[in-house]
Amino acid sequence: MNALIVYDSQYGNTEKIARAIGDAIPGARVLHASEADTSELESVGLLIVGSPTHGGRPMGAVQTFLSKAPASAIEGINVAAFDTRFSSRFAKVFGYAAGRIANALKRKGGGLVVEPEGFFVEATKGPLKEGELERAARWAGEVLGSVP
Ligand SMILES: Cc1cc2nc3c(=O)[nH]c(=O)nc-3n(C[C@H](O)[C@H](O)[C@H](O)COP(=O)(O)O)c2cc1C
Repeated sequence: MNALIVYDSQYGNTEKIARAIGDAIPGARVLHASEADTSELESVGLLIVGSPTHGGRPMGAVQTFLSKAPASAIEGINVAAFDTRFSSRFAKVFGYAAGRIANALKRKGGGLVVEPEGFFVEATKGPLKEGELERAARWAGEVLGSVP
């Protein structure tokens, strides 16, 4: 399985999650969204996209990646989405990035293999809540195990 993880990160927490996911998937590549052009999607069998949640949405580079990626590159590939977020009930009002990423990937024909997942930070700049890197590795295993 040729897996690609595409992420954005302002303070480094989402990058840590992306790398933990990448480490749990043999041979996976991990790329910042600004480096992930369409040619990177060639021969990818599993695409995982993640971003910090900003105002309920993914950050700009991930939004640009999602809007620029042609449906022909996403159509028929296995996809999954994650974000980092606050655990407060207040944050729920705005929604989260992962669901929006998943919807964008599905609109382009991607086959969502697991529900979008959120990983929690303690505060805006982090750190990640305890255990979240381990949970990310377990989630990656779940994603891999759900690829048809
Ligand atoms: C401008 C801004 C808006 C944010 N909006 C939300 C939000 O709507 N919901 C939420 O759960 N967290 C929100 N956060 C917290 C981010 O999710 C948190 O900073 C992020 O998970 C840290 O990841 P990073 O280190 O990869 O940048 C916001 C943070 C910033 C800076």
